[in-house]
Amino acid sequence: MSSQSQPQTPGFNTRAVHAGQAWEESTGAVIPPLYLSTTYHPHRIGELRGGYDYSRGTNPTRDSLQEQLAALEGGRFGISYASGLGAEDAILRGLLTSGDHVVMGNDVYGGTFRLIDRIHGGAGIGHTPVDLGDVDAVRAAVRQNHAKMLWIETPSNPMMKIADIEALVAVAHEAGALAVVDNTFATPYLQQPLALGADLVVHSTTKYLGGHSDVVGGSVITDNQELADKVRFIQFAAGNQSSPFDAYLTTRGIKTLGVRMDRHVANAEAVADWLLGRSEVSHVLYPGLPDHPGHQIAARQMSGFGGMVSVRLKGGASAARTVAEATRVFTLAESLGGIESLMNYPSEMTHASVKGTELAVPEDLLRLSVGIEDAADLIGDLERAFGQL
Ligand SMILES: Cc1ncc(COP(=O)(O)O)c(C=O)c1O
Repeated sequence: MSSQSQPQTPGFNTRAVHAGQAWEESTGAVIPPLYLSTTYHPHRIGELRGGYDYSRGTNPTRDSLQEQLAALEGGRFGISYASGLGAEDAILRGLLTSGDHVVMGNDVYGGTFRLIDRIHGGAGIGHTPVDLGDVDAVRAAVRQNHAKMLWIETPSNPMMKIADIEALVAVAHEAGALAVVDNTFATPYLQQPLALGADLVVHSTTKYLGGHSDVVGGSVITDNQELADKVRFIQFAAGNQSSPFDAYLTTRGIKTLGVRMDRHVANAEAVADWLLGRSEVSHVLYPGLPDHPGHQIAARQMSGFGGMVSVRLKGGASAARTVAEATRVFTLAESLGGIESLMNYPSEMTHASVKGTELAVPEDLLRLSVGIEDAADLIGDLERAFGQL
């Protein structure tokens, strides 16, 4: 089935399976082939076949992923990169110049902070971290700094804070700033920032979109041609595009995004409920819980509360380390969003780079990427690990 033949916009899962995946004309191959060729033979000089000449610029396998990404986020333009940070860098480099300012969440992913602070800071871009839950404080920070960009990550990694996308987009736009949403934790299956007014969506496709912990990648999606052209220029001119094989694997993962997310959400809810009942736990950070401070906003802007759960332990850093090293079904590792459950100790692992800054993650916190295994096995594993305390 070709996506162009649909009479009306197909549903999410149909788009995930078919967008950008038209069968191949010359052989009828149902799954589009992996195009590894670096270069393409034109009909004659200046007359390309299908627009392809050199794979840093354009490649059919990458195009197939980019079309799929755009269809899922509801934008016209998808651009894919070698990593999530590569995608973020393309936005920052493509759209800002020296003297510009970014306002961002004070719990933004540590690598995003490092990129803005240490790479773009050195190139003259200023930044102000602010609590995105306080819309008035965000408005004040955007105005005072004449910010060109508001960087929103929701739910945030690993504090699981929720930001009100629609309200923050309004704050950015009234000041003439661009609103960027990192949609990595939610995925387009659960949250659609472009429909809420955001100018650009960015993903680490390494996570839920790839979904199998076997490919690093990133993407930018927008409905704005001018922004797309500038961000795509960085992909081509700086050469941080996704490789054809990475694009192929990411496309393959995306086809099952909806079914995987349903299971991730159900299992995360079961794990969050189990953690709530444990005496060793001081806080369960999951937006699906009614007493989570962002629950009402999450219920409005997300169609499910996601597969990530953070938990803080009364026994502090030593209790967190003990549990992190004791689980067997949850594997102790960085990253998230794969089919397998992962256990992470952010203050010494994913977020070690922000230790000692205002973005530092509490040392009693564990981040659980709840996979698609059987919930009873995940809870049994946690029960055994908590038994070590
Ligand atoms: C929310 C978020 N954004 C961006 C990134 C960066 O993505 P990548 O590791 O693919 O460069 C990560 C990585 O963990 C992340 O969690």
